[in-house]
Amino acid sequence: MNHVKRNILLNPGPATTTDSVKWAQVVPDICPREAEFGNVMKFISKELTNIVTNKHQYSTILFGGSGTAAVESILSSVIDSGDTVLIIDNGAYGKRMCEIAKVYGLNSLEYQSPSDDGIDLDALETVIRESSQKVTHLAVVHHETTTGLLNDIETIGSICKRYNIEMIVDAMSSFAAIPIDMDKMNIHFLAASSNKNIQGMAGVSFVIANNLSLESIKDIPPKNYYLNLYDQYQYFTKTSQLRFTPPVQTLYALQQAIIELNQEGIEERYKRYSESWNTLINGISKLGLRFMIPKKYHSRLITAIYEPDCSQYDFTEMHDYFYQQNFTIYPGKLNKFNTFRIANIGEICHKDIKEFLRLLENYLKNIGYLEES
Ligand SMILES: Cc1ncc(COP(=O)(O)O)c(C=O)c1O
Repeated sequence: MNHVKRNILLNPGPATTTDSVKWAQVVPDICPREAEFGNVMKFISKELTNIVTNKHQYSTILFGGSGTAAVESILSSVIDSGDTVLIIDNGAYGKRMCEIAKVYGLNSLEYQSPSDDGIDLDALETVIRESSQKVTHLAVVHHETTTGLLNDIETIGSICKRYNIEMIVDAMSSFAAIPIDMDKMNIHFLAASSNKNIQGMAGVSFVIANNLSLESIKDIPPKNYYLNLYDQYQYFTKTSQLRFTPPVQTLYALQQAIIELNQEGIEERYKRYSESWNTLINGISKLGLRFMIPKKYHSRLITAIYEPDCSQYDFTEMHDYFYQQNFTIYPGKLNKFNTFRIANIGEICHKDIKEFLRLLENYLKNIGYLEES
């Protein structure tokens, strides 16, 4: 296998991939309506379901599209005219769900929670209990990629169970690293994509859903065409094909990425990521930098780091300095806080983070934030 130049992506996905995943895209041309390709998608669909449940009552519905497609598919297909969805907003992706709900004119309530601290779950329950409109659905981001804040979806799921609420989880940046059990956590619909912790290529998004919940949306009048969840589910169940042209090569890469995920195991993958994270936070602390999210609520996957208090600091210059050395870093996403972000997901390990820290120390010396030794 030819070696492809290795870039260390410390942005929150698409993540660094293995050569074998990259090369899995180079396959003989195939019409995606062939049974042979249907088998590839059946494998992918089954294996993705297995990541979050061992029960047979769940299905994975694939879409060609980025992660937002899966989130939009759920919200637009599941919330009927008489329903009310409560959306938890404690970061940019929670806010995005609120925006999607507005675009579709859904009956939605927003629950604002601080972006740098855990959700007050008692207060959330009070809002649900005292709401004048019966809350039928709750939507939450598992891991706010904006900051690294991990929301306690298990407890939120138990609250939903008490009030007979269907739970929708955007698990884009937690899926395939942080263990999720949809049945135990009472998750009815979950959205994720191919290019973060699965370590595949960008271009496939998917919804994993409880089959009974899927059947219950059958008669909801469609609000869009391409993203209609029930139609996509039915068509794939009957034909093992997507309704519209799938990203063929991306799916071959995803198949390979899943094989490699199964070889490594989710727990081992999270252990590897966590080792990188420990290296990162110890290293930045030594350099006098602080990170935003308290350890108790931290995903250990993505870290929002406060920018150094130094007049010479400039994110773009720092980015370019790293980029020349094959490291890609990422800006913050919350206007209120001045941060930059480092993700430790993908096919990287603590040694790569050590090298990042060495370069960061050099940069901080160059701008006069740290003294030359
Ligand atoms: C939690 C979360 N939701 C949704 C998205 C949107 O995914 P995409 O940019 O692939 O549409 C992202 C992307 O980073 C994310 O982290």
